Amino acid sequence: MSDAPVFIESPFLFNTYRRQPVTFVRGKGPWLWDNQGNRYLDFFSGLAVCNLGHANRPVARAVAHQVRTLVHTSNLFGTEPQRALAKELSVRTFGGKVFFTNSGAEANEGALKLARRFGSVNPGPEGPRYEVIVFDSAFHGRTYGALSATPQKKYQEGFGPLLPGFSVAAYGDLDSVKAQLTPRTCAVLVEPIQGEGGVRMAPPAFFQELADFCRDRNLLLMFDEVQTGMGRTGTLFAFQNEEIMPPGVVPDVMTLAKGLGNGLPIGAIVARESVAALLRPGDHASTFGGGPVPCQAALAVLRQLTPSLLSDVKRLGKLIRKEIAGWAFPFVKEVRGAGLMIGIELDRSGADIVPAALQKKILVNCTADKVIRLLPPFVLTRKETLRGLAILKSVFETFGSPS
Ligand SMILES: Cc1ncc(COP(=O)(O)O)c(C=O)c1O
Repeated sequence: MSDAPVFIESPFLFNTYRRQPVTFVRGKGPWLWDNQGNRYLDFFSGLAVCNLGHANRPVARAVAHQVRTLVHTSNLFGTEPQRALAKELSVRTFGGKVFFTNSGAEANEGALKLARRFGSVNPGPEGPRYEVIVFDSAFHGRTYGALSATPQKKYQEGFGPLLPGFSVAAYGDLDSVKAQLTPRTCAVLVEPIQGEGGVRMAPPAFFQELADFCRDRNLLLMFDEVQTGMGRTGTLFAFQNEEIMPPGVVPDVMTLAKGLGNGLPIGAIVARESVAALLRPGDHASTFGGGPVPCQAALAVLRQLTPSLLSDVKRLGKLIRKEIAGWAFPFVKEVRGAGLMIGIELDRSGADIVPAALQKKILVNCTADKVIRLLPPFVLTRKETLRGLAILKSVFETFGSPS
């Protein structure tokens, strides 16, 4: 076993990622191994994707079986796994209908098309409505519609002109939403917790006000649950979590991806039946979306997201937040989050903490410059959780002593 992982950046790849210098070759549960045999504790889950841990057995079994049986047919024919998964998602959300995609950005693209179709079928006094209200620090993906809905200079700069028709409100502030309303507004797109934006949370009452506002103005309420969904906050979806929003707040449209396939690429749009009906044959499509293999992976994921596992997510999340809040490092401003979506806001950049953590064999992430984001897998034991926290504390100690 060597302390120095071997990492060589390929000259054949686009240089779009700031990669940590490590090459992983194997994973099991919350653990990863690099090509030198070093073992790492994963508090990142491949960006909130491998929520059930690496090499999850039921997912592996379901995928292996499906690969041997039927891999692809296109969406011009029916398949059993796709039908079964659509039913599962409908029953476990709000009884809507489902369109399958390959990623979160692609799910949001579809949601934006739905919003525009809704606004053209239900015009305002000045004609078709097409504007979508989004929020400061939001992140909805890198494709053009999703990027245009992501009002952050660091993502948008140099890629203009972007898609028109987005206006930006302050997250958590209904007055600011009201100020963005025009006769052309057709929808509001919002993350229940802003993930890339720094694990930013809005007051629960905001979501009730927003839902009432959308209902009164005939606007679609669209939740981007790409990161918050699939159990990440301790309920299957964040809109079902009373720590995040009051019961009864239900979106018209919800987008999913990340943890849906535990690593297999799959996303989804779930929409209220009358909204889904706005898209007719030929209006939207995807060659790969909802193929039998990723659908089997997602079905295996949903079977494992039991009430007992979801309560583990809440319990472990509380334990982690409480522990970290007790450390009292002077450079830590706030610890926040829900379930296992946790942000540690620093009073300075956290970029140097990620490589320091990697050196000590724990994976964490830094987002919005000053927020250390923890997205551990749900399958951590209490012992592994405490071990991870002890390592993280020792990482923090290299940057300053607790006060
Ligand atoms: C809330 C949210 N929406 C959309 C996306 C984009 O998903 P993808 O990278 O699968 O396109 C992300 C990715 O981080 C996300 O966090």
